[in-house]
Amino acid sequence: MSFIVLDGPDGSGKSTQIKLLAEHLETRGENVLCIREPGQTPLGEDLRHILLHATYDISSLSEVFLFNAARSQMMEEIVKPAIDEGKWILCDRFYPSTLVYQSFAGGQNLAVVRSICEHAVAHNKPDHIIVLDVPVETTQLRLGDDRDRIESKGEDYLKNVRDGFLELATTENWPVISASESIVNVHSKILNHLF
Ligand code: TYD
Repeated sequence: MSFIVLDGPDGSGKSTQIKLLAEHLETRGENVLCIREPGQTPLGEDLRHILLHATYDISSLSEVFLFNAARSQMMEEIVKPAIDEGKWILCDRFYPSTLVYQSFAGGQNLAVVRSICEHAVAHNKPDHIIVLDVPVETTQLRLGDDRDRIESKGEDYLKNVRDGFLELATTENWPVISASESIVNVHSKILNHLF
């Protein structure tokens, strides 16, 4: 088993790649759980709705707490039991998103955000974090006009998200895979990294 996270800017194709990776593992007979943040639990799904669709202001510090409330509930209810059952866990976004969206792009202190995330994740750190990278222009194209609250924060915010992922990947030693390539190529690069 392994706990694998795919993270990156909006429109980087994480969910497609999670699906392909899950299919690959299932054909090998593995027991796979696919999850995505924020959400998965009743509390997490309610918080997801607030975070993505609220029409009132939510400060970036409040976002830190709300994303991490959803996360800690997901760790308790979903991730810890799955680890105990020996499942493969494939997670679409995780704490790197909070470091990038709320700190690099949202301006919150990185050390503070990191320590709140660490508290939510507790001892259940992922075995692999892979960043899928796309230029901001691709993000803008793939998002189109139908955007949630976070995706509507504007060009500068999205640029800081992209740059934040690249900077953090360097300091944290996370592999970065260009998601501008074909779906099949990205999939095989992910497999090469993992196996
Ligand atoms: P989602 O529709 O899941 O985006 P995507 O399909 O691109 O993954 O929406 C999640 C949004 O929430 C996305 O814009 C990133 C943002 N987000 C944060 O700002 N902080 C976080 O900690 C997480 C997990 C997500």
